[in-house]
Amino acid sequence: MTSVPPVSPLGSPPETSSAIPLADPELAERLTARLAGVEDRLRDAVAHAEDLVDSAARHLVDAGGKRLRPLLTLLAGELGDGGRPEVAQAAVVVELTHLASLYHDDVMDSAPVRRGAPSAHAVWGNSVAILTGDLLFARAAATVAELGPEAVLIQARTFERLCLGQLHETLGPRAGEDAVEHYLQVLADKTASLLSTSARLGAMFGDCPADIVETVSAYGEKLGVAFQLADDVLDLASSGAESGKTPGTDLREQVPTMPGLLLRARAAAPGASAADVELVRMLDADLSSDEDLARVVEALRAHEVLAETRALAVSWARAAVEEIATLPAGPVKDALVAFAQALADRTA
Ligand code: IPE
Ligand code: IPE
Ligand code: MG
Ligand code: MG
Repeated sequence: MTSVPPVSPLGSPPETSSAIPLADPELAERLTARLAGVEDRLRDAVAHAEDLVDSAARHLVDAGGKRLRPLLTLLAGELGDGGRPEVAQAAVVVELTHLASLYHDDVMDSAPVRRGAPSAHAVWGNSVAILTGDLLFARAAATVAELGPEAVLIQARTFERLCLGQLHETLGPRAGEDAVEHYLQVLADKTASLLSTSARLGAMFGDCPADIVETVSAYGEKLGVAFQLADDVLDLASSGAESGKTPGTDLREQVPTMPGLLLRARAAAPGASAADVELVRMLDADLSSDEDLARVVEALRAHEVLAETRALAVSWARAAVEEIATLPAGPVKDALVAFAQALADRTA
């Protein structure tokens, strides 16, 4: 029987409404109020009568997080009738799906910290963390069922892409497959799929016309790639206090990230510098000691591949903004543009 240690988050949850710069005060006020409603429903959706299950299932909701996906759903809903209760319900679904994936991801990546709190597997062990993730997926399924079969199918397909992205990340490229191209597909599947769906469901349940639904969905897809590239930069460049995660986690666990792949491509090219070849050797070495990991993180921080990854994130964010060129001008479009810029250049 697993005992349940009391868990207090190491940091306070980030302000949910500050994740996107919302220039329009009325829009900001409406979204902040709706997000508060989503927050209440989210907590209801993860609650369980049994103490142990309740603590494990609430662990990451209570720890905080940016709530970007529900925010994107609510924002996309504003392109139509964002006040419809189905939009808020969809916002709960996407955050639940995300939450569940985080429990599993931290097991896979052996990540010790998430949202400024010890990750679930660090507290209760892998089995409890995996099963709690499954339980949250079940809750997401029950929540989306209330939105009807089309939403259920969209969520199922999104979840499938998310799993495939994580699987392909784990399996790596096939022989002869370009590692960077493979990785971009991984990012699209594991992360962009849910951002795209967050925007799609918001517009769909805001009763927007089909062309707007498709437009914001395409925007979310590119935004998601930008967002995950920025996440790769954060794994190296941010302090744990800012990101709520442990810097260098991916490196230590040999999880591929774009800076590492760009470095490997350079080191394998004809005329590669001895310094790049040596840095790849350091990447592949045992990084279990904090000193060795810090040395590699430092070297990659100072390397051009980090700036290249940042530039890639910015160009994917620009491409996302191009997708919404046809949306009517106004505060919602401005907020979607600001959202893309903020996500590519984020520090948390
Ligand atoms: C983390 O997502 C997982 C990724 C797909 C990069 P977020 O950076 O949105 O995490 P939270 O929700 O704010 O904790
Ligand atoms: C997380 O990817 C993607 C999903 C949870 C589906 P990462 O492993 O790169 O994200 P972080 O850095 O742990 O948040
Ligand atoms: Mg991870
Ligand atoms: Mg991962």
